[in-house]
Amino acid sequence: MLFKEIIKRKRDGFELSDGEIKESIKRYLKGEISDYQMAAFLMAIYFKGMTDSETLHLTDAMLRSGETINININGIIVDKHSTGGIGDKVSFIIAPVLAELGLPAVLLSGRALGFTGGTADKMESTGIKVTLNKQEIEDVVKRFGFSISCQTEKIAPADRKIYALRDATSTVESIPLIVSSILSKKLCVNTQGIVFDVKVGSGAFMKTMNEAEKLAEGLVNVSKLYGKKAGAAITDMNQPLGRSAGNAIEIIESLNALSGDISNDLLEVVTTLTGILFKITEKGSFEEGKEKAENIILSGKALNRFCEWIEYLGGTTKLSIGKRRILVKSDKEGYITEIDGEALGFLIIETGGGRKRKEDKIDYSAGLKFFKKIGNYVKKGEPIGEIICNIGDSTAFINKFLSAFKIEENKPERLNLIKEIIP
Ligand code: URA
Repeated sequence: MLFKEIIKRKRDGFELSDGEIKESIKRYLKGEISDYQMAAFLMAIYFKGMTDSETLHLTDAMLRSGETINININGIIVDKHSTGGIGDKVSFIIAPVLAELGLPAVLLSGRALGFTGGTADKMESTGIKVTLNKQEIEDVVKRFGFSISCQTEKIAPADRKIYALRDATSTVESIPLIVSSILSKKLCVNTQGIVFDVKVGSGAFMKTMNEAEKLAEGLVNVSKLYGKKAGAAITDMNQPLGRSAGNAIEIIESLNALSGDISNDLLEVVTTLTGILFKITEKGSFEEGKEKAENIILSGKALNRFCEWIEYLGGTTKLSIGKRRILVKSDKEGYITEIDGEALGFLIIETGGGRKRKEDKIDYSAGLKFFKKIGNYVKKGEPIGEIICNIGDSTAFINKFLSAFKIEENKPERLNLIKEIIP
């Protein structure tokens, strides 16, 4: 069928077949379909959406455009994916904890995207080798019970090509396109169970519960159609997660967390996601997984595993952070009622801790510390955070930090961190 007929069928709201979708992606990669036609197709998807079955076929087509990774080990291999937020260092804590609990975890992570940090960049701040081939991943999982490595160029090249076009045509926000993009880079590993941490709020890509629910359901449904055991938690990102955001600084926080010194919000997210993985893989009940993860973290049992993993891959746990420490003091008295995570994410980029352009180098030692969070009462002049950097205008940074914090007279309602669990 001519591709313009397929565009027309999508434009008119018909459900496309497996063959129509797969053939289109193949021909696009071969250069037989032009960018302008693919752009029109993406816009038709943006407006008409896709059924779960269509999204599955699109995922599969993009996934098969690249390498699949078959890890040969005994046991159920699991994965955790976060849709991204500020201060999200959950991967570094949950992966060694899952290993300790006998659930081997293989995580393929991405670089920073937009205003949010990337797990691969954070890992790189330790100096470790972040890109591993299949054999290396297998070796690392056998040794440590977990592996976190960077998605390579060989994985889902069709997604990269299509993502660039989505970016240029304002079609990034389509839920089926996001679902297929994420899953094409996740389901290429032979994991059996996957949990999604869908972030919602000012520091996340999904700003409303409605969007987050649609994304979480799409990720879970399509993963299940693909034959995986899947679940999701929608978690609050109306303020940064934990006590810091940046690269090296988040690894330092993760080391502390694994030794038992962990903030309540981070503990809650890690244990909830572990509980979901326990339930979906039938390793135990949700409550059992949660409790076991908490015990491991608070007892510090998974710390050595994490440190040895860093050292094995050529990194160090003795990380240094930026030379300039700029204390941010509250300019008002009252309760912190809102924290604009997106604004803080952009502030990290300005301090050098993130990229303005794809080719920019990151200053891994830059970042932010948070001493106060939503619901805390602060006095005028009381420190609420710290900016750690090597470059830039301190006054401008302080003003940006302060304007991300809303301080009001009345105590805000308690934030619900775990907003929903699917299924
Ligand atoms: N992350 C991805 O990998 N793809 C998207 O489309 C959005 C977020």
